[in-house]
Amino acid sequence: MKRKVSVSFLSSKNKEEDLIKLGATDTDYIHVDVMDGKFVKNKNLPFKLLDRLSYTLQKRLDVHLMVNKPNKFIEEYATLNSEYITIHVELPKEVIDSSIELIKSYGIKCGLAIKPNTDINLLKDYLDRIDLILVMSVEPGSGGQEFISETPDRIAKIKELIGKKKIAINVDGGINDKTVKCLDKANIVVSGSYVVNSDSFMDAIKSLRW
Ligand code: DX5
Ligand code: ZN
Repeated sequence: MKRKVSVSFLSSKNKEEDLIKLGATDTDYIHVDVMDGKFVKNKNLPFKLLDRLSYTLQKRLDVHLMVNKPNKFIEEYATLNSEYITIHVELPKEVIDSSIELIKSYGIKCGLAIKPNTDINLLKDYLDRIDLILVMSVEPGSGGQEFISETPDRIAKIKELIGKKKIAINVDGGINDKTVKCLDKANIVVSGSYVVNSDSFMDAIKSLRW
């Protein structure tokens, strides 16, 4: 599988302008960070903006829900061009079960995100029902943090857990042209501040594919 790039606009100073610029690049996905101010401290609710731009954008979305109650957000993002909707494995099991079912009912691929310090065995219960694991390489909550260097080891262990199942590995946080070099096992890499703070989005995206 060729590695794909997903760009997060969480740290953009002008989100609308950057989204339009991203729409003109060859990024595979736009990574949408949704924060309710409860699961993580910060709030980020970009649905209205994405809905307004959906016709112009023409990019598939990779939606990362950092929220306690995913279902109402799943219903919103199911109306957009979402390829993946990802919820967190740290949520209660009954919330995860119902969200997986809801995501699948829309024919959208389902992801589970895991924070850097969460036991990877928590993923086991869901492996037959998910399409992607989003391995967090920073604590979720904000952009521009430093990449956690233990991430590649963690990915190797998660890959062992997955075995032969067809589940993509997406990695999120602190990824730039240098840290990406140790992510050869990832199928998708998310990059935010490195891309949106660069002079050329196209060159930055290219450097993540190498
Ligand atoms: C962190 C978010 C990430 C973040 C990535 O909570 O989930 O998607 O925006 O941004 P950078 O690349 O700046 O770490
Ligand atoms: Zn994210």
